[in-house]
Amino acid sequence: MFDINTLYKTLIASIQKTETMEALEAIRLAELGKRGRISALMKELGKMSPDERKTRGPALNTLKTDITAAIARKKESLEEAQLNTRLKTEFADLTLPPRPEPKGVLHPVMQVFEEVAAIFGDMGFRIAEGPDIEDDWYNFTALNFPEGHPARETHDTFFFQALDKETPPKLLRTHTSPVQIRAMMAEKPPIRILAPGRVYRNVWDATHTPMFHQVEGLVIDKNVHMGHLKGCLIDFIKAFFEVETVEVRMRPHFFPFTEPSAEMDVKYSNKGDRIEIGSGDQWMEILGSGMVHPNVLRNCGIDPDIYQGFAFGVGIDRLAMLKYGMPDLRPYFEADAEWSEHYGFSPWLTPSVSGGLSG
Ligand code: DAH
Repeated sequence: MFDINTLYKTLIASIQKTETMEALEAIRLAELGKRGRISALMKELGKMSPDERKTRGPALNTLKTDITAAIARKKESLEEAQLNTRLKTEFADLTLPPRPEPKGVLHPVMQVFEEVAAIFGDMGFRIAEGPDIEDDWYNFTALNFPEGHPARETHDTFFFQALDKETPPKLLRTHTSPVQIRAMMAEKPPIRILAPGRVYRNVWDATHTPMFHQVEGLVIDKNVHMGHLKGCLIDFIKAFFEVETVEVRMRPHFFPFTEPSAEMDVKYSNKGDRIEIGSGDQWMEILGSGMVHPNVLRNCGIDPDIYQGFAFGVGIDRLAMLKYGMPDLRPYFEADAEWSEHYGFSPWLTPSVSGGLSG
């Protein structure tokens, strides 16, 4: 007869040797499954004499329970081993440094564009744009620079190659003033626009770069006068330099597209290597302005007997130098990471008049 004890020992040995869940499950099925060996032995009990059954029955029952328990224990230890290998291979090293954040800062020129736009936006100005490659008509003729007028020469214009003898060659706009023309031709007064942009002139020295930045302002309405211009610009300068009071003066000047024309100077003082805007003992010119010339209004189909307007143009690069104490213009265009990090601004801190301009 089948020796239960030997069977027990062989089974326990093979259960112990098992290394995978699948092999363990195969043993369970082969021994304890419906058609398994132990199940078959149990069935044989029915054919035995009562005496045989008395000893064989409990022995088989014990075998069944012990083997079931041994398989369950082995299953647990296999599961634990599986978990341990996963824990070893799938760990995250929390001592590693975090992945570096991508670094990027806003160029001071961009920051100042945003600040200027925020200030004038608050006064109801809308942003307008024009192309960098302009026609002679928008850049000069419509702005009342007659052909051959010496004022054209002062602009050191970059011209494109002429297509034919009749058409004046295209050019890189020398100022943002052509956006005035585009705005006045596109819409009816009242007009209140601000045009930030790049401008180009053939000059290259310590204080001039062939590409630089301007912001143009234009207001057209009925009954607009010099007082509005002056008030608007004083409000702008106070807000931009974040000072309570500024002393300004308007000095007569000549621009073909405005009459009268004036440059605005602000008082400033030298504080060591810094400049303080608002008061002091010296004057600094910071922008050009004037009342829009009747010829310019006529060129754009606006009746100068009904409408008047004022305009102004500001150099953004120099405004940035003055406000943020940058002594030199050249690094603006050198893409030096250290300079950018020092003078740059967070792109997330959008300037606003109510929330603060320069963070
Ligand atoms: N366009 C002039 C320049 O680049 C600046 C300027 C002066 C703009 C007076 C204006 C203005 O709108 O009224 O030199």
